[in-house]
Amino acid sequence: MIRPFAYVAGTGRGLPAARMTNHDFSAIGIETSHEWIVERTGISERRIARDGESTCSMAADAARKAMERAGVGAGELDTIILSTATPDRLLPATAVDVQAALGASRAAAFDLSAACSGWLYGLTVGEGMLMTGAAKTVLVVGAEKMSAIVDWQDRATCVLFGDGAGAVVLRASKTARRVNDAKEAKGILSTFMRSDGQLAELLWRPGGGASLPFTEAMLTDRSHFVKMAGREVFKHAVRMMADAADRALDGARLTGADVDLMIPHQANVRIIEATAKHANIPMSKVFVNVDRYGNTSSASIPIALDEAIEAGRIKDGSTVLLCAFGAGFTWGSMVVRF
Ligand SMILES: CC(C)(COP(=O)(O)OP(=O)(O)OC[C@H]1O[C@@H](n2cnc3c(N)ncnc32)[C@H](O)[C@@H]1OP(=O)(O)O)[C@@H](O)C(=O)NCCC(=O)NCCS
Repeated sequence: MIRPFAYVAGTGRGLPAARMTNHDFSAIGIETSHEWIVERTGISERRIARDGESTCSMAADAARKAMERAGVGAGELDTIILSTATPDRLLPATAVDVQAALGASRAAAFDLSAACSGWLYGLTVGEGMLMTGAAKTVLVVGAEKMSAIVDWQDRATCVLFGDGAGAVVLRASKTARRVNDAKEAKGILSTFMRSDGQLAELLWRPGGGASLPFTEAMLTDRSHFVKMAGREVFKHAVRMMADAADRALDGARLTGADVDLMIPHQANVRIIEATAKHANIPMSKVFVNVDRYGNTSSASIPIALDEAIEAGRIKDGSTVLLCAFGAGFTWGSMVVRF
């Protein structure tokens, strides 16, 4: 079969300037240590949004850079997909704030909610729109202000997360590729998405939604903040990331040996190492920045992708494996040839 393909035309990231190191937790009364956090997670510091920085402002920052690199003006965007678990307000979608901030006058804009896997889900939706001809230029952003929803009194979760945004401009090729020829093909070669809502309560925000609207009691029970069963999440994450890696590689008819760079969701370096080992990919071919940003949820892969390109670790012809998992649970993966 011969058809056009979707490709990444430009990437960008938008990060708050303020750094919070592991040592800074003692100043806010959290009993923890740099050693504990590094040993269990690999995280040394994270960025925290301050002074009016919002999910929208970080998203727009990342988007402008991606558009500049792609050579795409705001008026050329057909669709803006914003993956976020931390919309600036519940109605309307934060994507329309991004649309307004960019002045993308022709664009449809909507939020996508699939937690840490959301940006990969968004990329798959964007690819589908390009392949059906419903859009020619799609902006896919992952933006998260996790500092607004974590419980700053719960040391088991607040040390893990950080704020930031990453974006890509996705376009359809003018030429066609032979879909069966995995060694020659370019652009998005395979995608995989999955979910298991039976596990929703392992990582969730019980209160504050329509079924349990915010009440004053939540100021005490703190049920409007993120709750997580850390050990259980860890076990599922290792299994789901391994599954995700296998599925995208199978879909592209490739193996770990064909991968030039793996960019996994950046939640925990131990989960990343287990995934790489399963996929038979040495850590020298795995991009890791969780030490500097913590878990930025759906922003983590696009931030890492942008840094990897900037660092020269992705070149023309590189085969890149993306793998994600998150609350839901949701998980997914993609093989992209640049
Ligand atoms: C959260 C996580 C780092 C905790 O590590 P763990 O080895 O499972 O630790 P546990 O939760 O069993 O806790 C062990 C002890 O450390 C303590 N602890 C928890 N957080 C701590 C912190 N920040 N500093 C110091 N001690 C801490 C616990 O209270 C517990 O103490 P206890 O044995 O006296 O009860 C780990 O489970 C994890 O990474 N899970 C996956 C999380 C994730 O990736 N979520 C995002 C998904 S997208």
